[in-house]
Amino acid sequence: MVVHNLLPAVPCPTPTLSLRVRAKDVVADGVVSLTLDHPDGVRLPDWTPGAHIDLVLPGGSTRQYSLCGDRWDPHTYRIAVLREPAGRGGSAYVHDRLTVGDRVSVGGAHNHFPLVPADRYLFIAGGIGITPLLPMIRQADMIGADWQLLYGGRTRVSMAFHADLTDAYGERVHVSPQDERGLLDLAGWLSEPLPGTKIYCCGPAPLLAAVDKASAHWPDHSLRTERFTAAVQSEPVRSTPFEVELRRTGRTVTVTPDVSVLRALRAVGAEVLSSCEQGTCGTCLVPVLDGTPDHRDAVLGGHERTAGDCMLPCVSRSLSDRLVLDL
Ligand code: FES
Repeated sequence: MVVHNLLPAVPCPTPTLSLRVRAKDVVADGVVSLTLDHPDGVRLPDWTPGAHIDLVLPGGSTRQYSLCGDRWDPHTYRIAVLREPAGRGGSAYVHDRLTVGDRVSVGGAHNHFPLVPADRYLFIAGGIGITPLLPMIRQADMIGADWQLLYGGRTRVSMAFHADLTDAYGERVHVSPQDERGLLDLAGWLSEPLPGTKIYCCGPAPLLAAVDKASAHWPDHSLRTERFTAAVQSEPVRSTPFEVELRRTGRTVTVTPDVSVLRALRAVGAEVLSSCEQGTCGTCLVPVLDGTPDHRDAVLGGHERTAGDCMLPCVSRSLSDRLVLDL
């Protein structure tokens, strides 16, 4: 989902499709959904639950939104956009200016929040964080997995799709508006680690932090999250320059503390796509052949960090004197 409403305005680096707004619907207080299709009726690129698209705004900046429609419908994409009064104009553009019939440029779809196989799923959504979980829930239900949804929000009227979910799935769905029931009872829900269960959580940073804390005693890799904004990071471990070797092109560049690895790579001609440049979208992912990255992103899971075979150079750095990338 990604209210990726909060991501920065950056040029869209990916090839785009020109799509048409087929429908625009109010789905909750402050939330509209857009259904997009190709004006010529052609199939859209395939996607999987958890994927997002880049919506290109006038002026060329992008915002990322999770696909929340039917992944088996090859002709439409659906997103839902929360109005962000304190945002930088992306959600206001969608809410106030886009109308049915308009054309919009769309990049993607990318998926950095995939649904991995599991016996059981616990989905936890906060507000507009429900959007990436909708296709996951559909898939989990379709394959007969055991699952439950814990869905919190400020008020019932602000919580998109809650009635559809309850109608479709009944008691598997636990809707918990804060003004009626207070904060989600995470301690209660997560008190007992359940082997074989994956927790998928999307929502605002305080919710993610609370789920992370409440599930700390669960088996490793039980929790998978998607952030709307970059986590607050401490200073990089290393404060001295390091070298990055681009193994395939045979180039090496020195990365000084004031320059990102991404920028250093581009300075020597490497073509690395980027979007958010905040470590939240995963677009700039590059393979690591040698050396130890200092992961500073909000995308990679614990096992991916431990494996150390990829990194997001827009924010991540190096613990070792040298990193070797498959570029
Ligand atoms: Fe988004 Fe690097 S560009 S994570």
